[in-house]
Amino acid sequence: MARRALVLLSLITGLASLIIVHVYGEKFPVTNNFSGSPGSHFHQRMRKMQEFKASLIRRDLATTTAAATAPSPSIDSPSPSPSAAPLPPQAASGPRVYRVTSYGADPTGKSDSTEAILRALSDAVNGPREGVLMQGIANLGGAEIYLEGGNYLISKSLRLPTAGVGNLMIHGGTLTASDNFPTDNYLIDLSSSSSSSSYNYEYITLKDLMLDSNYRGGAIQVINSLRTSIDNCYIVHFTTNGILVKGGHETYIRNSFLGQHITAGADPDERSFSGTAINLMGNDNAVTDVVIFSAAVGIMVSAPANTFSGVHCYNKATGFGGTGIYLKLPGLTQTRIVNCYMDYTGIVAEDPVQLHISSSFFLGSAHIVLKSINGVAKGVNIVDNMFSGNDKGVAIVQLDQSKGAFKQIEQVVVDRNNAQGMNTRATVARASMQSNGTSWTVDFNSILLFPNLIKHVQYSLSATGTSFPNHAIRNVTGNRVVIESDVAVPASIFVTVDQGGTS
Ligand SMILES: *[C@@H]1O[C@H](CO)[C@@H](O)[C@H](O)[C@H]1NC(C)=O
Ligand SMILES: *[C@@H]1O[C@H](CO)[C@@H](O)[C@H](O)[C@H]1NC(C)=O
Ligand SMILES: *[C@@H]1O[C@H](CO)[C@@H](O)[C@H](O)[C@H]1NC(C)=O
Repeated sequence: MARRALVLLSLITGLASLIIVHVYGEKFPVTNNFSGSPGSHFHQRMRKMQEFKASLIRRDLATTTAAATAPSPSIDSPSPSPSAAPLPPQAASGPRVYRVTSYGADPTGKSDSTEAILRALSDAVNGPREGVLMQGIANLGGAEIYLEGGNYLISKSLRLPTAGVGNLMIHGGTLTASDNFPTDNYLIDLSSSSSSSSYNYEYITLKDLMLDSNYRGGAIQVINSLRTSIDNCYIVHFTTNGILVKGGHETYIRNSFLGQHITAGADPDERSFSGTAINLMGNDNAVTDVVIFSAAVGIMVSAPANTFSGVHCYNKATGFGGTGIYLKLPGLTQTRIVNCYMDYTGIVAEDPVQLHISSSFFLGSAHIVLKSINGVAKGVNIVDNMFSGNDKGVAIVQLDQSKGAFKQIEQVVVDRNNAQGMNTRATVARASMQSNGTSWTVDFNSILLFPNLIKHVQYSLSATGTSFPNHAIRNVTGNRVVIESDVAVPASIFVTVDQGGTS
């Protein structure tokens, strides 16, 4: 009885699912199997759903472009009737790829392509939309401005006509500033004078581009935008900033090459290099796997919570007045620099508060300078780096106290770095000495970073004679530790000192 009921039930269920498949099957073949494992069937369903969605988008695009051009659009007809006006070229070449030559841009770089590319940008921005990203940011669905491998002459900033759009890519070619390009402009300018959203743009991708500023201004400006991606770009001949990021957050600059001049190091004109390759005036950005081969400052940072990894700086050498990474955010640094290669050019940090530098390689006497502004250094880790120099007595970490001494020093750890041909500096030091007498003085001045600062001492005395002397620390001043015993003994002294202290 129970078995018969089960058979009946499964029959009914099967029939019901058949009906469902029939009703929705034409547009969206639902398999209606929710009992299986979430593995292959789930992915298959997701794929089908995405295909279905894509087909709707294509239809939507066809509707929009056809409505704009043809007098009596027919959604279902596969090709427009011969009497209808031709579709715009970008639509013919596929959905949402705006080919700039279709707008009259000159890929040979001979005539000015500014207006043509601006028209392509305008069409992209006014193209089909798919809801919103962040509030007030319309989703352009992945529209592409395709430079088609050409080199285009540009005479003023390429700016999007309106703010409040996202999910757009500009890629695949070269932009070169013309000889009359305004020197305060940027080749690609993601800024806006008016924005309805709290952000100008979201998820704009600039990819596979060579940007030649022709010694007139900068290459990319990203103002108050969210989730901007700058990927595989070769940025040269800037005089202001190669890339400027201001406000907003999450601009990711990766796998790119920046240089004011195209050189491969040891350039005779290096002394006169100027400009800043990357200027970060906003937080939460990342620079990863980037080479900066010429500029006065490689990366200038004036907002916290940025991170740098795999950055190779060999811009203007420190010896000529250049800086690899300049952290100009005294009192709130919050910067991580890991796995970087500072090549004859170093790092400067003003009043560092929360700064981490590790696993990096400093070549050619490149070093780190902690510059006192208000005398604060807190939460600093400079650990596990390699320093290599030319035996000129350059210290791996230095203090610039020209504006006043560091006086608030907490949780500063400079330790476990190795140095060749340079003088090591640390906040933690160990030393031992051996003599026969009643007094032992261990001088840590050649190694300790901060003058006259020992927050913690630990020592042991190993007496080799027959007596058991009383001994004690008698003085810890001027980075020297004095230990005395009541009777003369031959003894070895082991001392560990710490300037950083614990929390
Ligand atoms: C449902 O999925 C399970 C597990 O993947 C499979 O064993 C079963 O045959 C499927 N049933 C139908 C009706 O497709
Ligand atoms: C250590 O010094 C004391 C007094 O100066 C002396 O008597 C003793 O022989 C010395 N011991 C050694 C091992 O040099
Ligand atoms: C500790 O040594 C310093 C410098 O050597 C000296 O000026 C100071 O008076 C000493 N302090 C004591 C308590 O002996």
